[in-house]
Amino acid sequence: KKVIFSGAQPSGKMTLGNYLGAIKNWTKLQDEYECFFSVVDLHAITVPQEPKVLRENAKKLLAQYIACGLDPEKNTIFIQSHVKEHLELMWVLNTMTYMGELNRMTQFKDKARKSEANLNAGLFTYPVLMAADILLYQTDLVPVGDDQKQHLELARDLANRFNNRYSDTFKIPEGYYPKEAARVMSLQDPTKKMSKSDENVNGFILLEDDPDTIRRKIKKCVTDSEGVVRYSPEQPGIKNLLDIYSALSGKSIDEIVKMYEGKGYGDFKADTAEVIISVLEPMRQKYLALLEDKEYLEKIYCEGAKKAEAKARKTLRKVYKKVGFLERK
Ligand code: TYM
Repeated sequence: KKVIFSGAQPSGKMTLGNYLGAIKNWTKLQDEYECFFSVVDLHAITVPQEPKVLRENAKKLLAQYIACGLDPEKNTIFIQSHVKEHLELMWVLNTMTYMGELNRMTQFKDKARKSEANLNAGLFTYPVLMAADILLYQTDLVPVGDDQKQHLELARDLANRFNNRYSDTFKIPEGYYPKEAARVMSLQDPTKKMSKSDENVNGFILLEDDPDTIRRKIKKCVTDSEGVVRYSPEQPGIKNLLDIYSALSGKSIDEIVKMYEGKGYGDFKADTAEVIISVLEPMRQKYLALLEDKEYLEKIYCEGAKKAEAKARKTLRKVYKKVGFLERK
């Protein structure tokens, strides 16, 4: 079976962007592939976290994974910090990554611009840890949103570099991006991606938003004065809603545009909200129920860590040997 690896940071709440960009595809692929889905808490501490909150968020994210439809029987679902091999491989890859490569990472540059006070080394080497995550499992496919493309390229480059310097060791992973809504945009500024770190809560929809909150946020959502539902780069707000509508309903953009011919934004927005609610509300109910079952969640991540570790160890053992570390018998 081909292998899939992906993950999300437990840094607060999951947005509709996380779902459409990544998790929706995970659920689609889980039957055909051997899948590893991680709660990447090691990545999360590159920005300051409240310890108690981080612990809660890790559990909540795991519950979200399952509520979104990942089957814990079929998939290996685990917490990144439970499998130390991620850090061990990261160190080796660190020594093979050029400063220049990391300097070019747009996400790092964005973060550097925004928060000079917290420009720690972890933020800089973050993509190397992500490469380690992926390469440890001999991953074939990495289902992520558009914003992770550059990071994935680095993982591929590092795999090639290692294979060339030593000998064939890593699979070269491919990115897997959604056809629609690979980049869900902010509802308040449709030129920016939807992000939970947006200070304006109306910019994003959370997977745990209740129906009324969703209706309110979509109603307030920034559009334009054209007044025609059309898929055009000049109408980024409407384009974003069309992407969301299409991805969640399975209807094509053309079909939806036809449906709203001669109608105003009011109808279109109201229906978009209902389409979102029809998908998110059942997941939210499941999520709330799962949060009550701490033992079940604990069982999943403990078993997940064991399975992940077994696979990760195999790769790491090879790597250490090739690099020239003396084996401890
Ligand atoms: P993170 O936690 O920021 O986001 C998780 C996933 O959601 C996708 N995503 C979006 N997709 C479309 N539109 C949006 N507005 C949007 N916002 C987020 C992201 O592309 C991602 O797929 N570095 C990663 C986590 C990570 C990882 C990995 C992923 C660590 N190691 C190994 C894959 C493989 C991140 O910060 O994702």
